[in-house]
Amino acid sequence: MLKGRNILTLAELSSEEIIQILDLAHIMKSERNQKIFRKLLENHTLAMIFQKPSTRTRISFETAMFQLGGHAINLSANELQLSRGETIEDTARAISQYVDCVMARVYSHSDIATLAKAACIPVINGLSDWYHPCQILADLQTIREVKGRFQGLQVAWVGDGNNVCNTMLIASAKMGMDLAVACPPKHTPLPEAVKLAKRFSKETNAEVNITEDPGKAVKNADVVITDSFISMGTEPEREKRRKTFLPKYQVNRFLFSKAKSDAVFMHCLPAHRGEEVTGEVIDGPRSVIWQEAENRLHTQKALLSLLLLDEEAFPWPPITGPVTAKL
Ligand code: CP
Ligand code: NVA
Repeated sequence: MLKGRNILTLAELSSEEIIQILDLAHIMKSERNQKIFRKLLENHTLAMIFQKPSTRTRISFETAMFQLGGHAINLSANELQLSRGETIEDTARAISQYVDCVMARVYSHSDIATLAKAACIPVINGLSDWYHPCQILADLQTIREVKGRFQGLQVAWVGDGNNVCNTMLIASAKMGMDLAVACPPKHTPLPEAVKLAKRFSKETNAEVNITEDPGKAVKNADVVITDSFISMGTEPEREKRRKTFLPKYQVNRFLFSKAKSDAVFMHCLPAHRGEEVTGEVIDGPRSVIWQEAENRLHTQKALLSLLLLDEEAFPWPPITGPVTAKL
């Protein structure tokens, strides 16, 4: 039962609950099912607070609410009284009087944790410096579509051990995928995320490895993932980071060739071609980045519906189809 919950890291969900979101996302993705869900969130409003820029998160959440008959309000943090010193706690209590759910993109993870604690409605992390759970739900849907399973898959993360990587650590361990993270020593994932991944992996027999060697991580991988070396908020370190990561941690044709011959490439976007990945890999035949970007919409429609509604509100039985889709 997901109604009323906060989604901050994915650690708060069981693997069964993640599958429930992915199953509903799959049903909602089907063109044939669009009509039956179009009033599902009628009279429901989502507030979206952004401390940082966004293309995909902003547009996919607003479209998700629209397609389900609800409403979304886009709020830049600068437009709120937050910018004049109103506390996050008071903002959370005030917003809770009007809307049904809040999604926020913040610099510091402690801000989203404070918001969630003070709000009386579900709070969704739309990216913090530590975690990006909505991105990883879309990544899981994409992996399931292209590979047909999670258990036993080998995932390689190459580059910065950042917010997306931290969330993938938690998700892989929960879903039974082996994850090898290749990163420079000063850019390893959050110790809390590694600890959680190791704990969850005991139940699924998944392996969690952190290495400095991209070749080792990518060898025989089914999925290769990277992200920008310069996450939002780290721009002052741009030149230093470029020197640390390049050329060793770039996903190029040579590195990608070490993965399985049917391996796919993923990236949450926005990408910097020629930095963390070359154009020929990200725009190549085994890149699934546009499917991954599209799945933000479907997973968030499913997530919002499950956080806001009782299960009896769903119009079953829906028309379903196969979960796997060919590349
Ligand atoms: N992947 C992602 O969250 O993209 P945006 O920053 O454009 O929202
Ligand atoms: N790691 C990136 C993800 C952007 C969607 C950042 O935090 O900027």
